[in-house]
Amino acid sequence: MEKTLLIIKPDITKKKLIGKIITIIEENNLLIENIFMLKFKKDDAKLFYKDHEKKVFFNELMDFITSDKIIAIILTGENIINKTRKLIGDTNFKNAEKNTIRAFFATSLTENAVHASDSIDSAKKEIKIILDLIKENEYQ
Ligand code: CMP
Repeated sequence: MEKTLLIIKPDITKKKLIGKIITIIEENNLLIENIFMLKFKKDDAKLFYKDHEKKVFFNELMDFITSDKIIAIILTGENIINKTRKLIGDTNFKNAEKNTIRAFFATSLTENAVHASDSIDSAKKEIKIILDLIKENEYQ
């Protein structure tokens, strides 16, 4: 069965809104396989967002994503990657469709509440990074 990774970002953790995001996930019938709480170190974040390392916003993204704990959620089901991307909305919250998580919770391009894998390849890669960190206790 297809899997994807959804990350609840530090803006949501800081605002104590984790439960609200999980409720939305469940109300939309996305099946949660596992949930982990961890804090990225800079090297973890650099690996996770390697595809963006040349982008102008990379340093800002690194500072933000390592600024507090994140929640990593593995979701599973048919077409789960597309279903999850649809539920979170556009990366730019100003373009996010009504009733998407980012339309409700994002406050800037960087502080956009959640991340979700955009392909089967990135889902595999991202889930592996999280599971490796959990295994190694690197997040402590
Ligand atoms: P995410 O889906 O996690 O993927 C890359 C992240 O970079 C994105 O969400 C945003 O949090 C952040 N970001 C910051 N500025 C931009 C930008 N101009 N365009 C796209 N992503 C950005």
